[in-house]
Amino acid sequence: MKKSIVILAAMALLAGCAKPQPQAFQVIPMPADVTVNEGYFPVTGAAIACDENMDELSVKAVNRFADALKIVTGKACDGKGKGEIRFVVNPNLAAEQYAINVTKDGATVEASALNGFVYAIETLKQMLPAAIYGDKKVKADWVLPCVSILDQPRFAYRGMHLDPCRHFFSIEETKKYLDVMTAYKLNRFHWHLTEDQGWRMEVKKYPKLTEIGAWRDGTVIKKDWDSNDGIRHGGFYTQEEMKEIVAYAAERGITVIPEIDLPGHMIAALASYPELGCTGGPYSVWTRWGVSEQILCAGNEQVYTFLEDVFTELMDIFPSEYIHIGGDECFPRDKALPWDSCPKCAALMKKLGIKKGPDAKHYLQNYVTARVQKFLNDNGRKIIGWDEILEGDLAEGATVMSWRGTKGGIKAAAKGFDVVMTPTDYAYFDYYQSKERDKEPFAIGGYLPLEKVYGYEPFDGMVAGSEDHILGVQANMWTEYIATPEHLEYMLMPRMCAMSEVQWCAADAKDYERFTASLEHTLGMMDAMGVNYCLDYKGLIGLDRQPARTEEELEEYLKENPRSW
Ligand code: ACM
Ligand code: ZN
Repeated sequence: MKKSIVILAAMALLAGCAKPQPQAFQVIPMPADVTVNEGYFPVTGAAIACDENMDELSVKAVNRFADALKIVTGKACDGKGKGEIRFVVNPNLAAEQYAINVTKDGATVEASALNGFVYAIETLKQMLPAAIYGDKKVKADWVLPCVSILDQPRFAYRGMHLDPCRHFFSIEETKKYLDVMTAYKLNRFHWHLTEDQGWRMEVKKYPKLTEIGAWRDGTVIKKDWDSNDGIRHGGFYTQEEMKEIVAYAAERGITVIPEIDLPGHMIAALASYPELGCTGGPYSVWTRWGVSEQILCAGNEQVYTFLEDVFTELMDIFPSEYIHIGGDECFPRDKALPWDSCPKCAALMKKLGIKKGPDAKHYLQNYVTARVQKFLNDNGRKIIGWDEILEGDLAEGATVMSWRGTKGGIKAAAKGFDVVMTPTDYAYFDYYQSKERDKEPFAIGGYLPLEKVYGYEPFDGMVAGSEDHILGVQANMWTEYIATPEHLEYMLMPRMCAMSEVQWCAADAKDYERFTASLEHTLGMMDAMGVNYCLDYKGLIGLDRQPARTEEELEEYLKENPRSW
């Protein structure tokens, strides 16, 4: 009896002395320069100190990190633990660069600006147990590995797009989307605010845009174009709500780039103000998907007044240097174009000297683009448009978003335009993730597995010397067939992780094996955040295979998946 008590006591003592195990180094996107050393630094109760030169948003980011540590460890970062995590301004680092040095006695984080601090914090969090991304106390080895990191991104523009028009996503759901972007160091949120199927931006001067244009009477069922579920769908964001998103994103180093898609994809606006179309309507907010021939009338001055009014209110909400003006899919191949039979458009073409012929529509679109571009330039902004704006004669200073493959981007860069690469083949996250379509939630089509996203090289096929015009890469999330946050997240993750390495890592630093070995930890982070994901890369296909885990399940999961160094 006595002997067993002694043994038990010895075991308890040993267990008490067991060395904490730092989380294996599984940071996504992989930092540029990492040296992992022996040992660890315990963060529970460590002091967190900010250099007095740090700006307000950087201090706020550090405070969010301290709050997260307090929640998961159950102890405030008040210095009652060992050592200190010190955040220091180092003006010699670039705006998105950061350095981390962790020793057994403490950690130092250096950056010159908010983005560097935000990325350093995300790297620190990813070096901790995944539960740091959750909101409850978890018993775990709350230690950082001793490590030295110097990190910076490959591309300045690292974007993720969201279409809240085909299906509406609330402000809270949008913030969660931004949280996931933050975890992987993305810095541009392209918010596609207008569509044929719904206008989402409150415009005070044109209230019918949200009274009428934000609502549709039903939604097509799968691809049966003549069908309709008869369920009213819609919603819009007030100007205050959009400002809230801008501020939320800005605190995380993310710029929101709003899109007003013109002159096509405008049926919701035409339904609200029919006088803006060539025929005068009547129009109704579209209940089906596709490309409509009903677009803004290019020959009507009222249209330019409307656009300038809308952009004036938009610029008041969105401080971004770039404004997206759409420009895609204005001319369906199989339909007569109202621009061809409209007297106002004909008069304008005559005035501009545009000759009749297959290219006339492109030159007329160039005119519309150039008018909007001039207005935005005069107000200190720059335009981005989908690659259709390149057809005809695109005015200098526009940035082209290459979506119909990479050809448009390659051509635009060779001509001296700046480019964001977002080709369907690699960057359309509305595509299926597996070949077993019957097991996947219904999608628009295509096939874009994780490995293919990861394998994208944005400089492939470029004309030598034009690479500097590639500002970066973006993935797009069109939501024709994505109606719920669970489905949205399933389509996003983990493909966005793969995209983050395309955007962040040097081409020769990518390694699919290393990347997939890190996914378990990263998806544990998503569990902690309550974010859904697809596990097709493990052969588990379908939306019902991986619902976001409950808190109890997460604890079980973390127990079953001990982090070994
Ligand atoms: C697009 O996918 N229509 C830009
Ligand atoms: Zn017209």
